[in-house]
Amino acid sequence: MRTIMVINAKGGCGKSTLATNIAGYFASNWDAVVSLADFDPQGSSLDWLAKRPPERDKIHAVDAHNEGLRHLDRNSDFLIVDSPARSHGSELTQMVRHAETVVVPVLPSPIDINAAGKFVQELLDVGKVERKEVKVAVVANRVRENLLIYEELEKFLDTLKVPVIARLRDTQNYIRAYSRGLGIHELPEYLSWPDQEQWEPLVKWLESKRSQP
Ligand SMILES: Nc1ncnc2c1ncn2[C@@H]1O[C@H](COP(=O)(O)OP(=O)(O)O)[C@@H](O)[C@H]1O
Ligand SMILES: [Mg+2]
Repeated sequence: MRTIMVINAKGGCGKSTLATNIAGYFASNWDAVVSLADFDPQGSSLDWLAKRPPERDKIHAVDAHNEGLRHLDRNSDFLIVDSPARSHGSELTQMVRHAETVVVPVLPSPIDINAAGKFVQELLDVGKVERKEVKVAVVANRVRENLLIYEELEKFLDTLKVPVIARLRDTQNYIRAYSRGLGIHELPEYLSWPDQEQWEPLVKWLESKRSQP
C-alpha cells in the first residue's frame, strides 16, 4: 500500500483540495483500490466523498479523526491521508508515522511562506523523515502571477533539499470539482486541461520511485 499524506500546520492552504484530488486521480486513472483517510475534525475530505457520484470510481472513506485507521481496507493500493491544521510536535510525529510520501501545500503569500519554512524544518526534524523513510515535496497552491514571491520559498527550500514539485493556479475548477465529489482529472477536459497539465509533475513524482523512500 502506498501512503501519501498531505499536511501543513497552516489552515486553508489546500490540504483537503490536494488530498481529494490525489485520491480522485488514482481512483480514476489507475485500476486501483483507493482509501481516503481524514484526520481533520472538520472532515472536508469525508464531506467530499459523501458528494461523490456512485457511478464514479469508488474511494473508500476512513473516518480517521474518530476511529484512526482501524477500519482501513488493508487491500488498498493507495491510502491518501488528509490532516488537520496545527499539527506540531508529538502530533506531527504521530501523523508522519502513517506516511511514506508527504506533500505540503503552500500558499504564495509572505506569511504562508514563512510559516511553511518553519513547518518544513520541523517536518525534516521528525526522526522518520531524518532517517529518509519519508519523501517530502512542496506544492505551491493558488498561484497567480506573483512569481517573485515563491522564488523566495524555492530558494529557502533548496537549502533544505525539498523540491517544489508543482504549481497549481487559483481557479474555480477546484471549487467546482469539490462540490461535485470529483477530482480535477474527472472534470471535462475542455474545462480542466490547464489544471491537469499543472498536475503532471506532481502525479509523475507520485508515480515514480522518487517519491518513495
Ligand atoms: N488552487 C485553488 N484554487 C481555488 N481555490 C482553492 C484552491 N486550493 C484551495 N482552494 C480553496 O481554498 C479553501 C481552502 O482549501 P482547503 O483545501 O480546504 O485547505 P485546508 O484543507 O488546508 O484547510 C477551500 O475553499 C478551497 O476550495
Ligand atoms: Mg482541510
